[in-house]
Amino acid sequence: MKNILLTGGAGYIGSHTFIELFQCGFRPIIYDNFSNSKIEVINRLSQICNSEIEYIKGDIRDQNQLEASIRDYNCEAIIHFAGLKAVGESVSNPDLYYSNNLTGTVCLLNAINNTGVTKLVFSSSATVYGKPIYLPIDEKHPLSATNPYGRTKLFIEEMLRDYANAFPKLKIAILRYFNPAGAHESGLIGEDPLGIPNNLMPYVSQVAAGLRTHVNVWGNDYETHDGTGVRDFIHVTDLAKGHIKALNKLDDLTSIAVNLGTGKGYSVMDIIKTFQEAAGTEIPYQFKDRRNGDVASCYANPSFANKIIGWKAERNLFEMCKDHWNWQKNNPNGY
Ligand code: UD1
Repeated sequence: MKNILLTGGAGYIGSHTFIELFQCGFRPIIYDNFSNSKIEVINRLSQICNSEIEYIKGDIRDQNQLEASIRDYNCEAIIHFAGLKAVGESVSNPDLYYSNNLTGTVCLLNAINNTGVTKLVFSSSATVYGKPIYLPIDEKHPLSATNPYGRTKLFIEEMLRDYANAFPKLKIAILRYFNPAGAHESGLIGEDPLGIPNNLMPYVSQVAAGLRTHVNVWGNDYETHDGTGVRDFIHVTDLAKGHIKALNKLDDLTSIAVNLGTGKGYSVMDIIKTFQEAAGTEIPYQFKDRRNGDVASCYANPSFANKIIGWKAERNLFEMCKDHWNWQKNNPNGY
Protein backbone atom coordinates (compact mmCIF):
# COMPACT_ATOMS: atom_id res chain seq x y z
CA MET A 1 0.00 0.00 0.00
CA LYS A 2 1.48 3.32 -1.02
CA ASN A 3 -0.76 6.07 -2.33
CA ILE A 4 -2.93 7.72 0.28
CA LEU A 5 -5.38 10.57 -0.28
CA LEU A 6 -5.55 13.01 2.65
CA THR A 7 -8.80 14.97 2.57
CA GLY A 8 -8.18 18.18 4.54
CA GLY A 9 -4.49 17.33 4.32
CA ALA A 10 -3.39 20.99 4.47
CA GLY A 11 -4.89 21.47 7.94
CA TYR A 12 -3.20 21.23 11.33
CA ILE A 13 -3.42 17.47 11.86
CA GLY A 14 -3.45 16.58 8.17
CA SER A 15 -0.18 18.39 7.43
CA HIS A 16 1.61 16.73 10.37
CA THR A 17 0.30 13.33 9.26
CA PHE A 18 1.55 14.06 5.73
CA ILE A 19 5.13 14.27 7.05
CA GLU A 20 4.92 11.04 9.03
CA LEU A 21 3.47 9.21 6.02
CA PHE A 22 6.12 10.61 3.72
CA GLN A 23 8.88 9.61 6.12
CA CYS A 24 7.47 6.07 6.36
CA GLY A 25 7.67 5.65 2.59
CA PHE A 26 4.03 6.27 1.68
CA ARG A 27 2.97 8.58 -1.14
CA PRO A 28 0.55 11.05 0.47
CA ILE A 29 -1.59 13.28 -1.75
CA ILE A 30 -3.41 16.27 -0.27
CA TYR A 31 -7.02 17.00 -1.25
CA ASP A 32 -8.10 20.30 0.30
CA ASN A 33 -10.24 23.31 -0.61
CA PHE A 34 -7.95 25.60 1.46
CA SER A 35 -10.98 27.25 3.08
CA ASN A 36 -9.45 26.86 6.53
CA SER A 37 -5.79 26.45 5.59
CA LYS A 38 -3.18 28.33 3.58
CA ILE A 39 -1.44 27.32 0.39
CA GLU A 40 1.86 28.21 2.11
CA VAL A 41 1.51 24.89 3.97
CA ILE A 42 2.52 23.21 0.72
CA ASN A 43 5.81 25.17 0.55
CA ARG A 44 6.57 24.37 4.17
CA LEU A 45 5.91 20.66 3.67
CA SER A 46 8.13 20.79 0.63
CA GLN A 47 10.97 22.24 2.74
CA ILE A 48 10.55 19.64 5.46
CA CYS A 49 10.28 16.67 3.09
CA ASN A 50 12.76 18.11 0.58
CA SER A 51 10.43 17.06 -2.20
CA GLU A 52 7.63 18.31 -4.42
CA ILE A 53 4.29 17.99 -2.64
CA GLU A 54 1.36 16.50 -4.52
CA TYR A 55 -1.91 18.27 -3.88
CA ILE A 56 -5.32 18.87 -5.39
CA LYS A 57 -7.48 21.92 -4.70
CA GLY A 58 -10.94 20.44 -4.32
CA ASP A 59 -14.02 20.42 -2.15
CA ILE A 60 -15.03 17.34 -0.18
CA ARG A 61 -18.59 17.76 -1.50
CA ASP A 62 -17.44 17.48 -5.12
CA GLN A 63 -17.88 13.75 -5.61
CA ASN A 64 -16.77 13.82 -9.26
CA GLN A 65 -13.50 15.51 -8.42
CA LEU A 66 -12.95 13.16 -5.50
CA GLU A 67 -13.46 10.13 -7.71
CA ALA A 68 -11.22 11.51 -10.42
CA SER A 69 -8.49 12.24 -7.84
CA ILE A 70 -8.67 8.75 -6.35
CA ARG A 71 -8.41 7.21 -9.83
CA ASP A 72 -5.69 9.59 -11.12
CA TYR A 73 -3.43 8.84 -8.18
CA ASN A 74 -4.50 5.22 -7.83
CA CYS A 75 -5.14 5.70 -4.11
CA GLU A 76 -5.46 2.60 -1.99
CA ALA A 77 -6.49 4.32 1.22
CA ILE A 78 -8.00 7.58 2.38
CA ILE A 79 -7.43 9.51 5.57
CA HIS A 80 -10.42 11.78 6.01
CA PHE A 81 -9.55 14.96 7.92
CA ALA A 82 -11.69 17.41 5.94
CA GLY A 83 -14.27 19.09 8.13
CA LEU A 84 -15.09 22.14 10.19
CA LYS A 85 -14.36 22.02 13.92
CA ALA A 86 -15.35 25.19 15.78
CA VAL A 87 -18.00 24.40 18.38
CA GLY A 88 -19.38 27.97 18.67
CA GLU A 89 -19.60 28.43 14.90
CA SER A 90 -21.46 25.12 14.62
CA VAL A 91 -24.14 26.43 17.00
CA SER A 92 -24.72 29.61 14.96
CA ASN A 93 -24.21 28.03 11.51
CA PRO A 94 -25.26 24.37 11.74
CA ASP A 95 -25.90 24.33 7.97
CA LEU A 96 -22.16 24.76 7.34
CA TYR A 97 -21.39 21.79 9.59
CA TYR A 98 -24.03 19.44 8.19
CA SER A 99 -23.00 20.37 4.66
CA ASN A 100 -19.21 20.20 4.99
CA ASN A 101 -18.92 17.42 7.52
CA LEU A 102 -21.92 15.18 6.85
CA THR A 103 -22.68 15.75 3.16
CA GLY A 104 -18.93 15.83 2.51
CA THR A 105 -18.51 12.42 4.09
CA VAL A 106 -21.46 10.98 2.14
CA CYS A 107 -19.78 12.19 -1.08
CA LEU A 108 -16.51 10.62 0.01
CA LEU A 109 -18.19 7.29 0.83
CA ASN A 110 -19.89 7.27 -2.60
CA ALA A 111 -16.52 7.97 -4.21
CA ILE A 112 -14.97 5.14 -2.17
CA ASN A 113 -17.71 2.71 -3.28
CA ASN A 114 -17.35 3.69 -6.92
CA THR A 115 -13.57 3.41 -6.98
CA GLY A 116 -13.09 0.33 -4.81
CA VAL A 117 -10.88 1.90 -2.12
CA THR A 118 -10.69 -0.56 0.78
CA LYS A 119 -9.17 1.45 3.65
CA LEU A 120 -10.44 4.54 5.40
CA VAL A 121 -9.13 6.33 8.49
CA PHE A 122 -11.48 8.93 9.95
CA SER A 123 -10.64 11.94 12.13
CA SER A 124 -13.11 11.75 14.97
CA SER A 125 -12.98 13.44 18.34
CA ALA A 126 -13.47 12.81 22.04
CA THR A 127 -16.45 15.11 21.58
CA VAL A 128 -18.45 11.95 20.66
CA TYR A 129 -18.39 10.97 24.34
CA GLY A 130 -20.48 14.04 25.26
CA LYS A 131 -20.47 14.78 28.98
CA PRO A 132 -18.21 12.15 30.57
CA ILE A 133 -20.04 9.66 32.77
CA TYR A 134 -16.80 8.12 34.05
CA LEU A 135 -13.06 8.76 33.74
CA PRO A 136 -10.73 7.85 32.16
CA ILE A 137 -12.87 7.45 29.06
CA ASP A 138 -12.50 4.15 27.23
CA GLU A 139 -14.05 3.23 23.88
CA LYS A 140 -17.02 1.55 25.59
CA HIS A 141 -18.13 4.85 27.10
CA PRO A 142 -21.64 5.78 25.84
CA LEU A 143 -21.71 8.18 22.89
CA SER A 144 -23.64 11.44 22.73
CA ALA A 145 -23.23 14.99 21.48
CA THR A 146 -23.68 18.41 23.01
CA ASN A 147 -23.48 20.67 19.94
CA PRO A 148 -23.89 20.49 16.12
CA TYR A 149 -20.15 19.98 15.54
CA GLY A 150 -20.15 17.03 17.94
CA ARG A 151 -23.31 15.68 16.33
CA THR A 152 -21.67 15.66 12.89
CA LYS A 153 -18.76 13.58 14.27
CA LEU A 154 -21.19 11.23 16.01
CA PHE A 155 -23.44 10.81 12.93
CA ILE A 156 -20.42 10.20 10.71
CA GLU A 157 -19.20 7.50 13.10
CA GLU A 158 -22.64 5.84 12.98
CA MET A 159 -22.64 6.05 9.19
CA LEU A 160 -19.20 4.48 9.02
CA ARG A 161 -20.32 1.60 11.22
CA ASP A 162 -23.23 0.97 8.81
CA TYR A 163 -20.85 1.05 5.83
CA ALA A 164 -18.39 -1.29 7.52
CA ASN A 165 -21.25 -3.75 8.18
CA ALA A 166 -22.64 -3.54 4.68
CA PHE A 167 -19.31 -3.63 2.83
CA PRO A 168 -16.93 -5.92 4.75
CA LYS A 169 -14.12 -5.31 2.22
CA LEU A 170 -14.01 -1.70 3.40
CA LYS A 171 -11.88 -1.49 6.57
CA ILE A 172 -12.42 1.62 8.67
CA ALA A 173 -10.42 3.03 11.58
CA ILE A 174 -12.14 5.76 13.58
CA LEU A 175 -9.62 7.76 15.59
CA ARG A 176 -11.00 9.76 18.50
CA TYR A 177 -8.59 12.59 19.20
CA PHE A 178 -8.40 14.19 22.61
CA ASN A 179 -6.87 17.73 22.63
CA PRO A 180 -4.19 18.15 19.95
CA ALA A 181 -1.34 20.54 20.81
CA GLY A 182 2.23 21.35 19.79
CA ALA A 183 3.77 21.54 16.35
CA HIS A 184 6.37 19.85 14.16
CA GLU A 185 9.86 20.06 15.65
CA SER A 186 11.06 22.12 12.63
CA GLY A 187 8.78 25.02 13.63
CA LEU A 188 7.77 25.27 9.97
CA ILE A 189 4.22 23.98 10.32
CA GLY A 190 1.73 24.30 13.16
CA GLU A 191 -1.76 25.33 14.14
CA ASP A 192 -2.88 28.51 12.38
CA PRO A 193 -6.34 29.43 13.67
CA LEU A 194 -8.37 32.01 11.76
CA GLY A 195 -9.25 34.99 13.99
CA ILE A 196 -9.48 34.66 17.76
CA PRO A 197 -8.58 31.11 18.82
CA ASN A 198 -11.34 29.20 20.61
CA ASN A 199 -9.01 26.53 21.91
CA LEU A 200 -6.71 26.91 24.86
CA MET A 201 -3.25 26.10 23.50
CA PRO A 202 -3.27 28.53 20.52
CA TYR A 203 -4.76 31.22 22.75
CA VAL A 204 -2.06 30.80 25.42
CA SER A 205 0.55 30.82 22.70
CA GLN A 206 -0.74 34.12 21.25
CA VAL A 207 -0.68 35.68 24.73
CA ALA A 208 2.93 34.52 25.16
CA ALA A 209 3.75 36.20 21.84
CA GLY A 210 2.18 39.47 23.01
CA LEU A 211 -0.61 39.29 20.41
CA ARG A 212 -3.24 39.16 23.16
CA THR A 213 -3.15 40.69 26.62
CA HIS A 214 -4.16 37.75 28.82
CA VAL A 215 -5.74 34.31 28.89
CA ASN A 216 -9.37 34.15 30.02
CA VAL A 217 -9.52 31.11 32.25
CA TRP A 218 -13.10 29.86 31.87
CA GLY A 219 -13.96 28.82 35.43
CA ASN A 220 -11.86 28.14 38.54
CA ASP A 221 -14.53 26.42 40.60
CA TYR A 222 -14.55 22.98 38.96
CA GLU A 223 -13.95 19.86 41.01
CA THR A 224 -10.38 19.44 39.77
CA HIS A 225 -7.00 19.70 41.50
CA ASP A 226 -6.87 23.50 41.09
CA GLY A 227 -10.46 24.33 40.10
CA THR A 228 -9.72 24.84 36.39
CA GLY A 229 -10.81 22.51 33.56
CA VAL A 230 -8.75 19.36 32.96
CA ARG A 231 -8.08 17.92 29.48
CA ASP A 232 -5.91 15.29 27.81
CA PHE A 233 -3.47 17.24 25.61
CA ILE A 234 -1.67 15.21 23.01
CA HIS A 235 1.28 16.20 20.82
CA VAL A 236 0.20 16.52 17.20
CA THR A 237 3.21 14.44 16.07
CA ASP A 238 2.13 11.58 18.36
CA LEU A 239 -1.36 11.95 16.94
CA ALA A 240 -0.02 11.88 13.37
CA LYS A 241 1.92 8.67 14.10
CA GLY A 242 -1.32 7.08 15.35
CA HIS A 243 -2.76 7.36 11.82
CA ILE A 244 0.10 5.35 10.35
CA LYS A 245 -0.21 2.68 13.02
CA ALA A 246 -3.94 2.43 12.33
CA LEU A 247 -3.45 2.31 8.57
CA ASN A 248 -0.82 -0.42 8.83
CA LYS A 249 -3.08 -2.52 11.04
CA LEU A 250 -6.21 -2.24 8.93
CA ASP A 251 -5.28 -5.26 6.80
CA ASP A 252 -5.55 -7.57 9.82
CA LEU A 253 -8.49 -5.92 11.54
CA THR A 254 -12.20 -5.55 11.27
CA SER A 255 -13.22 -1.92 11.60
CA ILE A 256 -12.27 -0.22 14.87
CA ALA A 257 -12.71 2.96 16.92
CA VAL A 258 -9.79 3.97 19.13
CA ASN A 259 -8.93 6.80 21.49
CA LEU A 260 -5.80 8.80 20.75
CA GLY A 261 -4.89 10.49 24.01
CA THR A 262 -2.12 10.29 26.60
CA GLY A 263 -4.27 9.20 29.54
CA LYS A 264 -3.03 12.17 31.57
CA GLY A 265 -5.21 15.12 32.48
CA TYR A 266 -3.73 18.62 32.80
CA SER A 267 -5.60 21.70 33.97
CA VAL A 268 -5.80 25.11 32.31
CA MET A 269 -3.43 26.43 35.00
CA ASP A 270 -1.00 23.53 34.39
CA ILE A 271 -0.92 24.55 30.73
CA ILE A 272 -0.34 28.22 31.49
CA LYS A 273 2.51 27.40 33.91
CA THR A 274 4.20 24.88 31.64
CA PHE A 275 3.91 27.21 28.65
CA GLN A 276 5.47 30.00 30.72
CA GLU A 277 8.47 27.79 31.42
CA ALA A 278 8.77 26.62 27.82
CA ALA A 279 8.54 30.14 26.39
CA GLY A 280 10.48 31.85 29.18
CA THR A 281 7.90 34.60 29.39
CA GLU A 282 5.11 35.57 31.76
CA ILE A 283 1.58 34.70 30.66
CA PRO A 284 -1.04 36.96 32.30
CA TYR A 285 -4.43 35.41 32.98
CA GLN A 286 -7.79 36.31 34.51
CA PHE A 287 -10.38 33.99 36.01
CA LYS A 288 -13.79 34.29 34.33
CA ASP A 289 -17.13 32.48 34.54
CA ARG A 290 -17.37 28.95 33.19
CA ARG A 291 -17.77 28.61 29.42
CA ASN A 292 -21.14 27.23 28.37
CA GLY A 293 -21.05 23.52 27.56
CA ASP A 294 -17.63 22.83 29.14
CA VAL A 295 -17.05 19.85 31.42
CA ALA A 296 -14.74 19.73 34.45
CA SER A 297 -12.49 16.90 33.25
CA CYS A 298 -12.00 14.80 30.16
CA TYR A 299 -9.13 12.38 29.60
CA ALA A 300 -8.62 9.12 27.80
CA ASN A 301 -7.95 5.58 28.68
CA PRO A 302 -5.53 5.00 25.79
CA SER A 303 -4.79 1.32 26.47
CA PHE A 304 -6.95 -0.05 23.62
CA ALA A 305 -4.90 1.87 21.03
CA ASN A 306 -1.75 0.37 22.50
CA LYS A 307 -3.17 -3.13 22.43
CA ILE A 308 -4.85 -3.04 19.04
CA ILE A 309 -2.64 -0.79 16.88
CA GLY A 310 0.54 -0.77 18.98
CA TRP A 311 0.43 3.00 19.51
CA LYS A 312 1.29 5.09 22.55
CA ALA A 313 1.87 8.84 22.98
CA GLU A 314 5.54 9.61 23.66
CA ARG A 315 5.79 13.38 24.07
CA ASN A 316 5.06 15.17 27.34
CA LEU A 317 3.35 18.47 28.10
CA PHE A 318 6.59 20.44 28.19
CA GLU A 319 7.49 19.24 24.68
CA MET A 320 4.00 20.19 23.44
CA CYS A 321 4.39 23.71 24.86
CA LYS A 322 7.98 24.06 23.62
CA ASP A 323 7.09 23.00 20.07
CA HIS A 324 3.93 25.08 20.02
CA TRP A 325 5.99 28.09 21.10
CA ASN A 326 8.76 27.40 18.57
CA TRP A 327 6.16 27.51 15.76
CA GLN A 328 4.47 30.62 17.23
CA LYS A 329 7.64 32.64 17.66
CA ASN A 330 8.93 31.80 14.18
CA ASN A 331 5.53 32.57 12.63
CA PRO A 332 3.91 35.27 14.76
CA ASN A 333 1.18 35.85 12.18
CA GLY A 334 0.76 32.23 11.15
CA TYR A 335 1.61 31.13 7.61
C1 UD1 B 1 -13.01 21.51 22.07
C2 UD1 B 1 -14.16 20.71 21.51
C3 UD1 B 1 -13.63 19.38 21.00
C4 UD1 B 1 -12.53 19.60 20.01
C5 UD1 B 1 -11.43 20.42 20.67
C6 UD1 B 1 -10.28 20.69 19.73
C7 UD1 B 1 -16.39 20.18 22.50
C8 UD1 B 1 -17.24 20.22 23.74
N1 UD1 B 1 -15.13 20.57 22.59
O1 UD1 B 1 -12.54 20.78 23.21
O2 UD1 B 1 -14.64 18.67 20.41
O3 UD1 B 1 -12.02 18.37 19.58
O4 UD1 B 1 -12.00 21.65 21.11
O5 UD1 B 1 -10.69 21.43 18.63
O6 UD1 B 1 -16.88 19.79 21.50
N2 UD1 B 1 -10.15 27.36 28.03
C9 UD1 B 1 -9.91 28.53 28.74
N3 UD1 B 1 -9.66 29.66 28.04
C10 UD1 B 1 -9.63 29.69 26.67
C11 UD1 B 1 -9.87 28.50 25.96
C12 UD1 B 1 -10.14 27.36 26.68
O7 UD1 B 1 -9.93 28.54 29.97
O8 UD1 B 1 -9.40 30.78 26.10
C13 UD1 B 1 -10.38 26.11 28.78
C14 UD1 B 1 -11.73 25.48 28.52
O9 UD1 B 1 -12.71 26.02 29.38
C15 UD1 B 1 -11.42 24.00 28.77
C16 UD1 B 1 -9.97 23.85 28.32
O10 UD1 B 1 -9.43 25.17 28.34
O11 UD1 B 1 -11.49 23.71 30.14
C17 UD1 B 1 -9.81 23.27 26.92
O12 UD1 B 1 -10.61 24.01 26.01
P1 UD1 B 1 -10.47 23.86 24.43
O13 UD1 B 1 -9.05 23.99 24.04
O14 UD1 B 1 -11.44 24.77 23.78
O15 UD1 B 1 -10.86 22.33 24.16
P2 UD1 B 1 -12.17 21.51 24.57
O16 UD1 B 1 -13.28 22.39 24.96
O17 UD1 B 1 -11.74 20.42 25.48
